[in-house]
Amino acid sequence: MAVSPSNLLDQVLDYTNRANPYPIYAKMREHPIQLQDDGRYVVSSYNLVSQLIKDPRMSVDMRKSNEPTIRVEQQEPGFVFQDPPKHDWLRQQVMSKFTPQLISSLRPRLEEIVNELLDAQHGQTQMDIVDNFAYPLPVTAICELLGIPREDEAQFHIWSTMIIKGSNLGRDLEAVKEARQGRELLNNYMGQLIDRIQQQPRPGLLSAMIHDNTVEKQMNRIELVTTATLLLIAGHETTVNLITNSTLTLMRHPAEFERLRRQPAIIPNLIEEVLRYEPPVQFTMRNALTDLTIEGIQIPKGSIIMLMNAAANRDPAHFQDPDRFNPVRPAIEHFGFGGGIHYCVGAPLARLEADIALRALARRLINPRLLQDPPPYRESPTLRGPRHLLVSFERIA
Ligand code: HEM
Repeated sequence: MAVSPSNLLDQVLDYTNRANPYPIYAKMREHPIQLQDDGRYVVSSYNLVSQLIKDPRMSVDMRKSNEPTIRVEQQEPGFVFQDPPKHDWLRQQVMSKFTPQLISSLRPRLEEIVNELLDAQHGQTQMDIVDNFAYPLPVTAICELLGIPREDEAQFHIWSTMIIKGSNLGRDLEAVKEARQGRELLNNYMGQLIDRIQQQPRPGLLSAMIHDNTVEKQMNRIELVTTATLLLIAGHETTVNLITNSTLTLMRHPAEFERLRRQPAIIPNLIEEVLRYEPPVQFTMRNALTDLTIEGIQIPKGSIIMLMNAAANRDPAHFQDPDRFNPVRPAIEHFGFGGGIHYCVGAPLARLEADIALRALARRLINPRLLQDPPPYRESPTLRGPRHLLVSFERIA
């Protein structure tokens, strides 16, 4: 594929490259930091991503960027788009409730959900892994965890899709508008739910955050709304890709699927390898808080800097044989969950869900085969994963 260095990011965004962006990332790494013709900088080597993801001069707050289409969002954003000190305070409010004990206590209920989803396929010989399995699991899990009515999913999924579509880096102005509308609708829904919980406590994290009297300063209503919205979107639009990308990769490597069936103990390492090899979040965005010089390249204050986590994850300078899927690869330090102060809050939950899902698939799906390869992908280049994944099988055990 002939790609000129100046438009490599456009190539990644182009839907026709969604099924396999990795050759483009390899081209990007030839110039680990490069200026695009639209004034943005793209960072793609392991070393530089690792350095910049922890650099306090990198802001996630797009209200500080010099690009008008990115900057328009003036309302209080979720804390993934806020810098310290506000970020640290909001994150701490969530982390104090989102404890490892709470996450591990969810295992029996998650196993039940997974088994119910597979039981529903009895008598079938094919299924869509996305619609019938990988999507309903995290949605049910995050709704129950937060205390959001599961039956509202049809509604909030539409708004969440609008938001994600518009986070296509501010290029498509129609999509940006739609995202703003989606955000308003979802925030409005969440505000009403929070008001109801304020009146009447119910199980779940939202209620725990609303009725927490132990903290020095309570989150105000808008902070509660954007934090809850962030958790809902992050909790249901990403784990679906981890489960689906894992299943797709295993179907493409039948010997590894067989090994998994015999040796389920490799699952935790296998999940880390999928997070490296087919990360559900492919890249993240920052802007420069000051004028910077990185590797001799001058970056003016306010410039957008794309950190290409998925490219760094396959950097041959860091990983041996990076394009090979190796579920027993040792010491996999990937950027699948980001890094630095914005490292994913939901990582333990995502790992647990994927663990339970893959264990069940390996045990219960007898002789599965892909019916379509490559599968059709979701539109988003950032939250990348199949929209459908059709598999056939002999039976469900
Ligand atoms: C942050 C990936 C699941 C909540 C992040 C970031 C990544 C990521 C890459 C860093 C963003 C950045 O640097 O700009 C993933 C993946 C998941 C997943 C791949 C599933 C496989 C979840 C779940 C939740 C969650 C289940 C919530 C329950 C968050 C939050 C942040 C975050 C709140 C912001 C953290 C901060 O700014 O301090 N995630 N995530 N994620 N994730 Fe996840």
